[in-house]
Amino acid sequence: MSVKIIIGAQWGDEGKGKLVDALSENVEIVVRYQGGANAGHTVYIDGKKYILHLIPGGILRKNVQCVIGNGVVFDPETFFDELEFLKQFNIFADGRLFISNRAHVIFPYHKLLDKLKEDALKNNKIGTTGRGIGPAYSDKINRNGIRVVDLFDRSVLSGKIQANIDLINSELQLKYKEQPLRADDVLKEINRYIDKIEPFVIDSTRFLHDAWKAGRQIMLEGAQGVLLDVDFGSYPFVTSSNPTIGGALTGTGLPAQSLEEIIGVIKAYTTRVGSGPFPSENTGEIGDLLRKSGGEYGATTGRPRRCGWFDLVAAKYAIRLNGFTALALTKLDVLDSFETVQVCTHYRVNGETIDNFPASLQTLSACEPVFETHEGWQSPTDKCRKFEDLPVQAKRFVTYLEQTLEVPIKYISVGVDRKQLIIR
Ligand code: IMP
Repeated sequence: MSVKIIIGAQWGDEGKGKLVDALSENVEIVVRYQGGANAGHTVYIDGKKYILHLIPGGILRKNVQCVIGNGVVFDPETFFDELEFLKQFNIFADGRLFISNRAHVIFPYHKLLDKLKEDALKNNKIGTTGRGIGPAYSDKINRNGIRVVDLFDRSVLSGKIQANIDLINSELQLKYKEQPLRADDVLKEINRYIDKIEPFVIDSTRFLHDAWKAGRQIMLEGAQGVLLDVDFGSYPFVTSSNPTIGGALTGTGLPAQSLEEIIGVIKAYTTRVGSGPFPSENTGEIGDLLRKSGGEYGATTGRPRRCGWFDLVAAKYAIRLNGFTALALTKLDVLDSFETVQVCTHYRVNGETIDNFPASLQTLSACEPVFETHEGWQSPTDKCRKFEDLPVQAKRFVTYLEQTLEVPIKYISVGVDRKQLIIR
């Protein structure tokens, strides 16, 4: 057993990028298992800021190998843009970055459809990142997706593109009153990348299985978060994949018994980008202050994130679904200036007080938060490197969360830099 997983336990943006980077020092392989270029993993090293959307965060460590797993929807354009971005920092990925031959490919028509579908939803928009994620996963499930392996068989590729364009064109013309696309143009566009993609492609399931059997240290990096999971999140205001633990198995081909440590990442408060219910949201001064102090603007889209207090109901739900063996509490320092810190312990809905995350969107949308107030610490935590260094009220807050959630909080992040991490 040598596989660790990092899973976002809220609505994404919990600080997984920093955790993956900080904990990958002794890791040999980092694998992205789901999502695509919709993620925005931000890492600060020695004052430099890196944002990665598709390439696993482990790439920032020069001895780490990285794999884009079969569960990912692979966007060639972003991939090569990110490689160029990394070169500016003398980070070269050749020979240590791999793409699964079973990953599905995002084509420009997926991004076009993402936008058109969103526009058509008018007041009910999901608020997607516009990266073509939903349409690409729809093709996968509809069994007309194009996988990386298909790129290297010209007749298969052109046949699949033609069939997809025929389907899309009727939708484009009839439903969206748009101009039809030409299969030749789509083929020409992807042809720009095929030869460049080839050296990165492997049978990742075999590679990862062999690595696991050989006892190599592997880290699986989730994107988005549990509450955006297509099965367990606030459906339909979710992404189109499974950030939860099952997605890590189907998105890599590793067996369940390979998992050693399952780390859930929770921010000390809650944020959400895009539409959908968010029971502990604060649309007033507190929300604005959290956004400002936490720099809560989307790393992929730049959108201001919606902010609110920590939600225990949602966190307990995430813990049940994933069986976290440890938690990483991030952005504790963002709460440093608050006189009091609140935690949502229950929801009140239809005259009842509940402690479960409802399946029905209507019920979830009607939930009112029940808060418990804790004393703030009003002193800086960013220089703390040991739990004992934290102000007494901060220690009490962390201990309260740990005891209520019944999972050890093994990591506490108190700033953006790799080094601003307390490991217990
Ligand atoms: P999609 O994944 O682009 O289809 O977007 C679906 C929903 O997931 C939208 O509400 C997005 O804002 C949200 N989302 C997707 N990726 C992320 C992420 O990395 N962090 C936070 N929210 C995300």
